[in-house]
Amino acid sequence: MERLDKVLANLGVGSRKEVKVMVKNGLVKVDGRPARDSGMQIDPEKAAIEVGGEILSYRKYIYLMMNKPGGVVSATFDNYDETVIDLLEDEHRIFEPFPVGRLDKDTVGLLIITNDGDLNHRLISPKWHVDKVYYAEIDKPVEDEDVRKFKEGVVLDDGYKCMSAKLEILAADENGSQVYVTIQEGKFHQVKRMFKSVGKEVVYLKRISFGPLKLDEQLPEGEYRELRKEEVEALQGK
Ligand code: URA
Repeated sequence: MERLDKVLANLGVGSRKEVKVMVKNGLVKVDGRPARDSGMQIDPEKAAIEVGGEILSYRKYIYLMMNKPGGVVSATFDNYDETVIDLLEDEHRIFEPFPVGRLDKDTVGLLIITNDGDLNHRLISPKWHVDKVYYAEIDKPVEDEDVRKFKEGVVLDDGYKCMSAKLEILAADENGSQVYVTIQEGKFHQVKRMFKSVGKEVVYLKRISFGPLKLDEQLPEGEYRELRKEEVEALQGK
């Protein structure tokens, strides 16, 4: 059960204060009867809610794809830095979503933001082997030897041996390299530390896909959009 005003606010009908006024003015009906109190408890999955004669269907979850810009942190709150949640419109923030996994402050690209805890768990658990693909620029020439080492599983600075990772060289010369890296884990600074372990530095990092989901090329950095139904279902493995 949830408060009527919270449900309506989640639906983007208005702030709790505005909803209160609507209820007072008799604009809101629950199961065909005018709601008397904006704090009344309803079952949002079952109650038929009408606002100004229009029937609303409730949704509990939101699923967003953001092209994360540099300089913001993947958290719901931070004392110093702007967070990815700060970039959302009120109509989405009201659902209290959180980022699925983390991208470093300077990493850009695909970030899923949702309030669906089950999906979050499925996507970040190493058990499910979800592929995450990154485009990276490296300070030195990447070689076939590095491809082999990544495939075998490199050992990080703390002694952790990574799972096998796919490294594809797009271009490489004395000035640096452009590569794709596919990993299934999400350790802290993982891609950067993997390159460190082979004596190289990541100078630019962008996530371009997460499991079946590809970064929408139409999305400029700092922008986001809701996922389509098929995209959510693909992430859920349906
Ligand atoms: N690996 C990193 O080093 N940083 C990220 O943000 C993501 C993966």
